[in-house]
Amino acid sequence: MLAEKTVQIVKSTAPILQEHGETLTRHFYKRMFKHNPEVAPFFNPAHQTAGKQQRALAGAIAAYAANIDNLEVLGGAVELIAQKHASLMIKPEHYPIVGENLLASIREVLGDGATDEIISAWAEAYGFLADILIGREKQIYEENAKKPGGWEGFKNFRITRKEKESSNITSFYLVAADGAPLPAFKPGQYITVRVAMPDGQTTMRNYSLSDQPGQEHFRISVKREVPPEANTPAGFVSNWLHDRIEVGDTVEIAPPCGEFFLDVTEKHDRPLVLLAAGVGITPIMSILLTALDTMPERDIVFIHACLNEQVQAFKATVDALEKKHPKLKVHYRYSDAGTRTGNASTGFVTAELIESLLPGRDADYYFCGPQPFMVSIYHDLLKWGIPASQVRFEFFGPRQELERAA
Ligand SMILES: Cc1cc2nc3c(=O)[nH]c(=O)nc-3n(C[C@H](O)[C@H](O)[C@H](O)COP(=O)(O)OP(=O)(O)OC[C@H]3O[C@@H](n4cnc5c(N)ncnc54)[C@H](O)[C@@H]3O)c2cc1C
Ligand code: HEM
Repeated sequence: MLAEKTVQIVKSTAPILQEHGETLTRHFYKRMFKHNPEVAPFFNPAHQTAGKQQRALAGAIAAYAANIDNLEVLGGAVELIAQKHASLMIKPEHYPIVGENLLASIREVLGDGATDEIISAWAEAYGFLADILIGREKQIYEENAKKPGGWEGFKNFRITRKEKESSNITSFYLVAADGAPLPAFKPGQYITVRVAMPDGQTTMRNYSLSDQPGQEHFRISVKREVPPEANTPAGFVSNWLHDRIEVGDTVEIAPPCGEFFLDVTEKHDRPLVLLAAGVGITPIMSILLTALDTMPERDIVFIHACLNEQVQAFKATVDALEKKHPKLKVHYRYSDAGTRTGNASTGFVTAELIESLLPGRDADYYFCGPQPFMVSIYHDLLKWGIPASQVRFEFFGPRQELERAA
């Protein structure tokens, strides 16, 4: 347990951290990458450029400080962070590096405000949180390694199929290069792909598994990331996969992780509402396929929002599923007014649209997509008074970014 005095000091510094949080963590990353360049490959450079990772850590620290005497409220956050860390192979030996650079940055940014008492309280509090994360991460590594077909670290997988799903999304089917069976995963979870960059360093990206568990392959479905504006680089890993990786090639992947999943053992007497936008369909597709197989009596509403049919992945598959399963109701929402056929409408996904497809609002909601979509759905569900336990989502970036926008 933390000393009462430590709790008081950390709580009393929460407002200062809130105020200086982003400056502090920007400073922290700059400092850490200079003094400890060995940890740089863990971090997504694009998240650094956009400041997302800085804000994620600042947010986590501020939340920790504010709730240090009531850590249960951080339970969900701890699981999210531990799963993310485990997907990237963050190990106990990395924690002192982060801790040392964080404390030094607090000192440098706060200047005279950072007394020895404050620094040592934070050192103790950091160690306490680090131990919680290290403990949970150890369990995840062990669970993943001991599953039949499981492993720890990165392992070579061979591409057995490469299939275009839409004008900008391509699926890759992967099997273990050593012929080992695949470990079970939960529908909604993601794997990590590690790739060598031209400078010799490696970089990692998470990709949700888009097929259901229990297949002879893992499948990921990747959107080609184009440069957001002129003179900015195109997405490195997505373009590398699209352009350079063909059937027969191998890629390194780490085991499935993630706390967003459909729990098939849970009671499911409410309808299931699955909302996807763009490439956010990938974990939702895995959940849809699993739900149809394991809960055939359940009412399912599936909405996929995207620009138009050209960029829409898995349309033919979902159309076929709807024909086969009377309990599945499908709707497509295109933001580009030009094209629409069948069960489709034009515009964005709104509360009215969701409600029009449901017998009542009481349902389990799972959603994934770009930030504006996520924020708008989240707000609508909160406004409807849907309990948090019935609202689950995956965001393809630091969660803090989403909460900040919300
Ligand atoms: C849990 C999770 C699951 C995911 N699942 C999927 C999935 O199923 N399918 C999928 O396609 N993606 C998924 N993603 C996103 C994926 O991990 C990658 O972030 C995505 O493929 C982009 O990676 P990249 O290397 O191609 O782009 P990056 O190189 O990371 O670049 C990202 C964006 O930033 C821009 N950019 C890069 N460098 C700069 C710079 N210096 N200045 C300005 N702009 C810059 C790029 O043009 C690009 O638009 C998931 C992410 C998470 C966290
Ligand atoms: C107590 C200590 C730590 C806290 C509170 C913390 C907090 C966080 C948070 C909030 C996220 C974002 C999760 C998400 O929403 O996706 C994150 C991601 C991450 N963390 Fe930590 N972390 C800690 C320690 C570490 C350590 C020791 C490392 C190792 C170098 C590390 C490396 C990373 C990486 C690489 C990511 C993903 C970054 C990206 O997307 O680019 N963290 N962490």
